[in-house]
Amino acid sequence: MSDGLARRRILVGVGGGIAAYKVCSVIRHFTEAGHDVRVIPTRSALRFVGAATFEALSGNPVTTEVFDDVDEVAHVALGREADLVVIAPATADLMARAAAGRADDLLTASLLTARCPVLFVPAMHTEMWEHPATEANVATLRAHGATVATPASGRLTGADTGAGRLPEPTEIGLLGDLLLTRADALPYDLAGRRVLISAGGTREALDPVRYLGNHSSGKQGYALARVAAQRGAHVTLVSGAVSEPGEPAAVDVVHIDSARDLAREMQERAAAADVVIMAAAVADFRPTAVAGAKIKKGDQGPAPIELATNPDILAGLVQARRDGVIPVSTVIVGFAAETGDADGGVLDHGRAKLRRKGCDLLVVNAVGEGRAFGTEDNAGWILTSEGAETALPFGSKTLMASRILDEVASVVRDS
Ligand code: CTP
Repeated sequence: MSDGLARRRILVGVGGGIAAYKVCSVIRHFTEAGHDVRVIPTRSALRFVGAATFEALSGNPVTTEVFDDVDEVAHVALGREADLVVIAPATADLMARAAAGRADDLLTASLLTARCPVLFVPAMHTEMWEHPATEANVATLRAHGATVATPASGRLTGADTGAGRLPEPTEIGLLGDLLLTRADALPYDLAGRRVLISAGGTREALDPVRYLGNHSSGKQGYALARVAAQRGAHVTLVSGAVSEPGEPAAVDVVHIDSARDLAREMQERAAAADVVIMAAAVADFRPTAVAGAKIKKGDQGPAPIELATNPDILAGLVQARRDGVIPVSTVIVGFAAETGDADGGVLDHGRAKLRRKGCDLLVVNAVGEGRAFGTEDNAGWILTSEGAETALPFGSKTLMASRILDEVASVVRDS
C-alpha cells in the first residue's frame, strides 16, 4: 500500500448532487487499496444513487438515519472510529449544515464525532459556489480544521460552465491518500499566491514525425500543481509531454512542445508569479535543423544529427531576477535528477547544481534503475541556498509535492 498506509477506516459521505455517481469510483479507489469503507449518503443523495450500489461497492451496510441501528450507536461510532472522512459531492446545503454543527442526519452527526482529517469536495453551480453564504461556510469549515477542496472549472450539469465541477475521482482519491498520510488537514497557506510550475518532458523536433524526447511522466510537476491549487494558490502549469491522464482541478494548463517554447512561456509568466517551480525535464540539446519533410532511410545509412544547446531556463530565470525583470521576492525552485558517479554521490551533484543554478530551493531525486521517472513514488532531499538540507522520505509524488510546498510556504515572501 502506498506510503505504508495500513488498512484504515474511511467514511465516505455523499451529498445530494448529480456528481454523486462519480463518488462510486472514489469508493472503489479506497476499497482497492484495502481500506474498510463505510458510506453514509444523505437522504437526497439516495435520489441520485441507490443504497444498493453503495453497499455493493463498499461491502458494508448503508444507512442515512440516526435512528437506524440505534443499538450500535452508529451516529457516534462511525465518526469516532474513522481515520479519514471524505464528503463528495459536498453540496452547498450539506456544507451549511456541517458548518453550523447540525446533526439532523447520520452524516452530519458523524461529522461532529470525527476527530480525523475531513475532506469536503464541493460540487455545485458556480453561483452557489461563489455566494457569500457558501464562502463563509467554507471559511468556517476550514477554521474548524477541515480541508475544503477547490472545485474544478468546466462543464456543469446543464449547458452552463464555470467553477463548481467535482474534481475527477482519481484526484479525490489522491487527496484522500495525502490526508491519511499527513494525518492532518492540508494547510490553506498559499491562498492568493501565484505559482508557476513547469512539468513533463520537452520534445525537440527532427522532422514532422520524429523528435528527441525523454522519459519524464510529468507526475511530480502535476502533483505539485494539484496540491498548490488545493492549498489556495492560483496555479499555472506549463506542461510538456506527460503520461498523466487528466488536468488537475482549478489549475490553468498551458501546453508546450520544445525547450524554447517552454523558455518563452516561463519568461513571460514568471514576472507575475510569487513562486516559480521548474519541474520539467528540459532537453539540453535540440537538432540544429528541423527537416521540412520526413527524413528518408535512404541507402547511405543514418545521417549524423547535429545538435545545438538549448537555453538553461532555470538559470535564465535566476538571471532575470538579478536583472530586476522578475521581482526579487519571487521564490525560484529547481529540480535535479541525479545518479552518483566517479565525481561524487547524488547529494554532491545536487549541492553543486544548486550553486551553479542560483535558485532558492533545489529538490534532488536519485534516478536510474527505474527510480523517479514514471513511477508513483519518489524520495530525495530539499536543499536551500542557505545550506539547509531536508530529507524527503520515500512516498507518493503527491506526498512529496506536499512536503516541497511546506518548504515553499515557509520561504514565500510578500513583494
Ligand atoms: N533545466 C532548465 N533548462 C535546461 C535544463 C534544465 O531549466 N535546459 C532545469 C530543470 O527543469 C531542473 C534543473 O534545471 O529544474 C536541473 O535539471 P537537470 O537536467 O538535472 O540539470 P542540467 O542543467 O541539465 O545539468 P546536468 O546535465 O549537468 O546534470
